[in-house]
Amino acid sequence: NRTNVMDRLSRPLRDLRLSVIDQCNFRCVYCMPADVFGPNFRFLAEGELLTVEEMALLSECFVELGVEKIRLTGGEPLLRRDLDALVARLSAIPGLRDIGLTTNGVHLVKWAQRLKEAGLKRVNVSLDALDDDIFRKMNGIGIGVAPVLKGIEAARAAGLGVKVNMVVKNGWNDSQIVPMAAYFKEQGIPLRLIEFMDVGTTNGWDYSHVVTKKEMYEQINAMHPLEPVEKAYFGEVASRYRYVGTEVEVGFIASVTETFCRSCTRARISADGKLYTCLFASKGVSLKDNLRAGATKEELKSLITAVWNQRTDRYSEERTEETAKQRKKIEMSYIGG
Ligand code: GTP
Ligand code: 5AD
Ligand code: SF4
Ligand code: SF4
Repeated sequence: NRTNVMDRLSRPLRDLRLSVIDQCNFRCVYCMPADVFGPNFRFLAEGELLTVEEMALLSECFVELGVEKIRLTGGEPLLRRDLDALVARLSAIPGLRDIGLTTNGVHLVKWAQRLKEAGLKRVNVSLDALDDDIFRKMNGIGIGVAPVLKGIEAARAAGLGVKVNMVVKNGWNDSQIVPMAAYFKEQGIPLRLIEFMDVGTTNGWDYSHVVTKKEMYEQINAMHPLEPVEKAYFGEVASRYRYVGTEVEVGFIASVTETFCRSCTRARISADGKLYTCLFASKGVSLKDNLRAGATKEELKSLITAVWNQRTDRYSEERTEETAKQRKKIEMSYIGG
């Protein structure tokens, strides 16, 4: 009883990224710069956030419309106290093949075991440097690398799949590309290097801050030769490579220089329950309002289908210096990356 929903560019709905909270304990320069997200910044109030039951019900709707994979994001999802209850509810949805979580890792030490038991399969941990001073500047709160490495260890010990995400910002952490690659090759953990994107309107993005996939690839390949790996599934965002002579992978997420909109199968729900059909969208449709006004599951599914059928987003392919600066876009911490 699953339907296949298609958008105007013939892309099916396959993945859901669910932001469970808009707050974060970090202030990464490329995501929540401390001068913008200061002590007076107004985050969503408790009652504005979706409840676990609401998130579970919406997830069921999406799975019935073709979603096979759900990724929990934030802000920082581990700040949500009822996260294990949510994961347990999602694990019980038939047809959902994969549940992942994207986190800064610091709270994994206390969460990893519980989340694994609730049915979580994988975590993607963000870490932008191995050098403490560089990492302290990138994360904006002066925290060192050790707590994140401990979180990664805890996730591995709990039996969760682990990947590491590194956003590269030119002039900030580009010196860390090769050291990060060497370290995670040694650890046997896939590292994904991410081109800095113009998400939101507060991170001061500019082409000069982007280190391209080509440059990153060349730096790594010169020290640790790489060979390409076949795509694992339609719509995968990372282009993957293997260190020659090993089984260890490294990936690049080149959303600026090698866009992947043509195979973009992702819907996003913000922490306050709005549906967005692109990371760079400026407007969403409130599923929460409909839900709280008493909409049935069938009504919600019709609404989601109608929104997806109208979808034409392909922002990364349209990006120019102009759109990066002028367009009104949703912040990453709110929409969940
Ligand atoms: P896997 O399921 O492990 O492949 O996760 P993922 O790479 O889809 O998700 P993750 O949260 O780890 O995101 C890694 C990077 O890819 C982040 O910088 C995201 O913002 C970026 N990303 C994920 N989906 C999209 C997308 O649809 N468009 C763009 N432009 N970037 C995306
Ligand atoms: N560009 C690229 N990636 C980003 N992330 C956050 N902000 C940006 C940005 N401006 C990454 C985080 C996390 C993932 C969800 O998105 O580091 O790994
Ligand atoms: Fe927090 Fe992740 Fe944004 Fe950094 S990138 S501020 S850890 S949500
Ligand atoms: Fe999908 Fe929008 Fe990202 Fe393109 S820019 S891949 S349409 S989320």
